[in-house]
Amino acid sequence: MRREVSVQDDDTVSNPSTGRTFESILEANISRRRVLQGGIGLATAAFLGLPLLEGASVKAAAPGFKSVPPSKADAVVVPAGYTAKVLYAWGDPISNGPAFKQDASNAAWEQEHQAGMHHDGMHFFPLGANWGLLAINHEYTDDGLLHVGGMVPWTADKVKKSQAAHGVSVIEVRLEGKDWIVVRPSAFARRITANTPIAISGPAAGSAFLKTAGDPAGTRVLGTINNCAHGSTPWGTYLTCEENFNGYFSNETGTITNDQKRYGINKGGFGYRWHEFDERFRADLHPNESNRFGWVAELDPYSPYREPVKRTALGRIKHEGAETTLAKDGRAVVYMGDDERNEYIYKFVSAGRYAADNPSHNRDLLDSGTLYVARFNDDGSGAWLPIVYGQGGLTSANGFSSQAEVLVRTRQAADLLGATMMDRPEWIAVHPTTKEVYCTLTNNSNRGTTPVSTNTPSTSAGSARPPVDKANPRGPNTYGHIIRWREAGGDPGATTFVWDIFVLAGDADLNAGNAAKSGNIKGDKFGSPDGLWFDYYGMLWIQTDISTSTLNSGDYAQIGNNMMLAADTASGEIRRFLTGPPGCEVTGVTTTADGKTMFVNIQHPGEPASERNDPAKPTAVSTWPDGPAAGRPRAATVVIRKDDGGLIGT
Ligand code: FEO
Ligand code: CA
Ligand code: CA
Repeated sequence: MRREVSVQDDDTVSNPSTGRTFESILEANISRRRVLQGGIGLATAAFLGLPLLEGASVKAAAPGFKSVPPSKADAVVVPAGYTAKVLYAWGDPISNGPAFKQDASNAAWEQEHQAGMHHDGMHFFPLGANWGLLAINHEYTDDGLLHVGGMVPWTADKVKKSQAAHGVSVIEVRLEGKDWIVVRPSAFARRITANTPIAISGPAAGSAFLKTAGDPAGTRVLGTINNCAHGSTPWGTYLTCEENFNGYFSNETGTITNDQKRYGINKGGFGYRWHEFDERFRADLHPNESNRFGWVAELDPYSPYREPVKRTALGRIKHEGAETTLAKDGRAVVYMGDDERNEYIYKFVSAGRYAADNPSHNRDLLDSGTLYVARFNDDGSGAWLPIVYGQGGLTSANGFSSQAEVLVRTRQAADLLGATMMDRPEWIAVHPTTKEVYCTLTNNSNRGTTPVSTNTPSTSAGSARPPVDKANPRGPNTYGHIIRWREAGGDPGATTFVWDIFVLAGDADLNAGNAAKSGNIKGDKFGSPDGLWFDYYGMLWIQTDISTSTLNSGDYAQIGNNMMLAADTASGEIRRFLTGPPGCEVTGVTTTADGKTMFVNIQHPGEPASERNDPAKPTAVSTWPDGPAAGRPRAATVVIRKDDGGLIGT
């Protein structure tokens, strides 16, 4: 079966399994441009890079390419008929200079104007035909690769460079001839780092929980960190999500409060060692500073001077992504996973409604509304439990004094409400027409394992060992699965849903007869699904993040390097579309509106030789993308085009 573009006489005709019509995409983009241009709807299909077809629609069906096999090659491998090229690697300048130095001797101030490390979530914002902005998260750093000599000696300048390599890039990109290029210079080019001033808004802003010595008002924080997945809004903004923020803090006394424990703050953190030269990361001296991380920040890529804003109404968790859609009545709906073993899935529904022609109205839509957490019942039903001060036991009797506190301590509130502990919720994707929601549950070594100590991870995230349930049916869950749900009435604003499991990942060849590990994939095998995105034509793209330590073990021996696959959600067929270089994770995918150019991120190629504290042998595992002569491996954004200029996935 192939996916093809066809022209219909009736523009309302579309296959039930199709993606959005060209009209709906055009309309969405025109709305975005109206936002940009203050209500002047200049956009045309040609301007936006969409085909000039009257009444066109797109038929989405099974992936139409020939699968690529598992691979151990030090390369990005794509199907025959496709070409992948590196566009934007760690250290590349966002605009004119400074150039990347392969020996990693760029200074911190230079890193502030270059691609950060370890690209993650990403979205393409159109400016015109084959022209637009890419907003790209830089999740974390491997300081063994980032500096000359790695972390030896460890210095204040290295901390500054590490902080500068975190955050977000906004770059301008354009198709020139056959190749996409980064436009240099660009007035849009921007880096947001761990030191960029960011406003704090919503119910927790200005509360006692967010006030620090450096910010007595509790309304402005320096930086965003561990920017994992992302979201994009109908009003043309980018949502960047703070995941493992706890790893940057150290409580040096070792006297950890229960609230710090619940978010994994300890002595030493993950070894970033920022606290040695930047005191605000001392969780013992500045206990509120960590309350200012773990949020979703919104930024407007089209407005390079507008300050980003952390939206506290969306809760404080280890945010994976923030998939955004609209309820039937126009309220904004944001789906979010908290990626840790036995954590929860959340949804925010705004109080106000999106107004396509009123940009100032949309600007703060994410500041008021209701945050919910999901309960998956064993009978296939589900409910969204409101996380609202005064409701469901979120009262002073249980230690909650205000909505600000409920949001700062979102995990504890969700514990109290009896939400369902999930197998590490990663990305969430909403089908563009059916609004069906899919979520990757990447794996869970603590599911169903003995001893079953507690079902309430009240003080130590990840330490619970809940038994299997229908929504998380395998323990331990080695390969992960993808769950999906349909909201009542097909309305993302609903408070109940029905769910089922789309696929249990596994390796049926290696684990024949072992139901816990063979899975039920119709197509190419994979494990640890993480990145997940519906393209505008209804194809579901799945990216894997099998940890380096397990990738070459028995459980995964035949799966190969991390990969990206395409799934037809109607038939369940899944095909491997791309394999990455050794030691990488494939994370971050977006396309142009016409679906003919895809951008994919390759994160941490070369792990584990590149791991944080190890300056030795950075090229032992991978030298992608520059090759052995050049030096160290670099995370990078890759552009994929079909050689015949067709739709990606056909
Ligand atoms: Fe940053 Fe859960 O992945
Ligand atoms: Ca992830
Ligand atoms: Ca992951």
